[in-house]
Amino acid sequence: MELNEMKKIFTALYGDGEMRVFASPGRVNLIGEHIDYCGGCVMPAALTMKTTLVARKRNDDIIRLKATDLDIMVETTVSEMHNLKGKLRWGDYQIGVMLELMKDGYDICGCDLLYDDTVPHGGGLSSSAAIEVSTALCFATFSNEKKGIDKKIDMIEIALIAQRAEHNFIGVKCGIMDQFASAMGKKDHAVYLNCATLEYEHIPLNLKDCSIVLTNTNVKHSLGSSKYNERRAECEEGLNALKTVLPDIKELADVKIEQFEEHKDVIKNETTRKRIKHVVYECDRVKKSAEAMKNDDIALFGQYMNASHDSLQYDYEVTCPELDFVVRMGRNMDGVLGIRMTGAGFGGCTVAIIKNYAVDKYIERIGVLFEGRFGHKASFYVTGTGDGGREI
Ligand code: GLA
Repeated sequence: MELNEMKKIFTALYGDGEMRVFASPGRVNLIGEHIDYCGGCVMPAALTMKTTLVARKRNDDIIRLKATDLDIMVETTVSEMHNLKGKLRWGDYQIGVMLELMKDGYDICGCDLLYDDTVPHGGGLSSSAAIEVSTALCFATFSNEKKGIDKKIDMIEIALIAQRAEHNFIGVKCGIMDQFASAMGKKDHAVYLNCATLEYEHIPLNLKDCSIVLTNTNVKHSLGSSKYNERRAECEEGLNALKTVLPDIKELADVKIEQFEEHKDVIKNETTRKRIKHVVYECDRVKKSAEAMKNDDIALFGQYMNASHDSLQYDYEVTCPELDFVVRMGRNMDGVLGIRMTGAGFGGCTVAIIKNYAVDKYIERIGVLFEGRFGHKASFYVTGTGDGGREI
């Protein structure tokens, strides 16, 4: 929705007055899947699809939340909002973030808020991180103004606060990748992020004659959060087993491929062993992929993307028939350099790097094949990359 349109809706809902605008993007992860919570390096990029938030401070402690595409309005107060855990149909990311900001000493003021999302929900493109980061930025900004603190907001701190909201209010023990990408993304760059240290580098995405094409299976990952936490527990179990023979490792990302191959039998459970195999090999792939991208070798980058999907399909087992189908069909098409699932999995999107001349053909062909096979349509986004969270 155009910003002017949003402002009109805001005024109709909340009356005339000052309007502040914040925005924060979704992300696509190019490579490095399900390793952020194991201390691995990941390579997401912020999208142009984003959450836009129009906000106005109030003089009391009432919080009103509304989205442009939803009929309901959530109304609460700063002192009562902690009671809403598990009770909301919508608005929990926002409330979770406000509560975490409070724990860090931010002064949460009453506020009227209107959200507009162009990141598809449940598509694995971090629509939730986009909401969280825009909300955290908005309230941190208002708090600093109220306290007379004149310093630039630390966007890494904002990302960490947003992640804690997921852990504590939503109940998903997510890594830091999504919130970091949403907060710290940069147009035409990937964020090469070491999730153990939070050191990062913006790597230029010189895609030359290629585009990033997302294919949304429109399968919402409803089982995602329980399966997600299950994978985290499996990683923990594998790590503990490996520590008995490799006492110096702190996280799975510290384990080299040779060490894993030498010691993998200490992981007795076969399924757990497969999970750890994915993590160890994926960590290695990301490093090589970053080099490939820096060397402008998109074809090689694409091969790592393909290998990443295979590992997620067979070893980590977080794909689904729809994702695997798009990947299998896509790989056989002319001009597709690499294709894999992106995000948490169990539904959502694939990301592909495709030669520009082949993009239309890909969309047309996959569209037909997908609908023929599954009886519902896939959606396609030929996407640009955008900047991280900011006030507009
Ligand atoms: C979700 C989580 C991230 C990350 C990915 C998988 O998007 O929020 O932290 O673990 O899944 O790579």
